[in-house]
Amino acid sequence: MSPDLTMPAIDPADRGRRRWVVTTSVIGGAGLVATAVPFVTSLSPSERARAQGAPVEFDVQAMQSDELKTIEWRGQPVFVMRRSPETLNSLALHDDLLADPLSRRSEQPGYAANPVRSTRPEFLVLVGICTHLGCVPSFRPESGALDLGTSWPGGFFCPCHGSKFDFAGRVFKNVPAPTNLTVPPYRFTSQSTLLIGADPAA
Ligand code: FES
Repeated sequence: MSPDLTMPAIDPADRGRRRWVVTTSVIGGAGLVATAVPFVTSLSPSERARAQGAPVEFDVQAMQSDELKTIEWRGQPVFVMRRSPETLNSLALHDDLLADPLSRRSEQPGYAANPVRSTRPEFLVLVGICTHLGCVPSFRPESGALDLGTSWPGGFFCPCHGSKFDFAGRVFKNVPAPTNLTVPPYRFTSQSTLLIGADPAA
């Protein structure tokens, strides 16, 4: 009897999760090879702290208007977007299309519980994990994209089951994701230095 070579079906949500896990695993694997067995002990104090979830610094100075960067923090992607004045103004135009426009049911620190979901409106900081089943949404800044509908104002699109989020990470109605994308703790320690994973100093 010939062997059954058919592959088990992979749920698209799992595929998205695996993609992020594989990416981080490859980096981790390369590090393991380079340092051989004493991996943990060979880490510098700052590398060890980082692996344990210490805050991560990112310089936003060189970011262009409406550019998105993805930073790794605690093994997960964090989106940082520098929003233009036009993008910020557009956020007020589609509240009626959103499931939680005031972020009352969503997760963010108190200092980001405002319509633009940030401490400095120009900069958006989000955990880049879909609140449905954990895929990584794509950045889709083009308004009216043909495949997302003429009312699409630009934002983030989750390819696994079609959830849509605006440029504040707020979820649109009638998609599987139940809440807005999460805002992690963060603060600016200077005009250009963002510290992801740390609340503003009291
Ligand atoms: S994981 Fe299902 S829509 Fe994003």
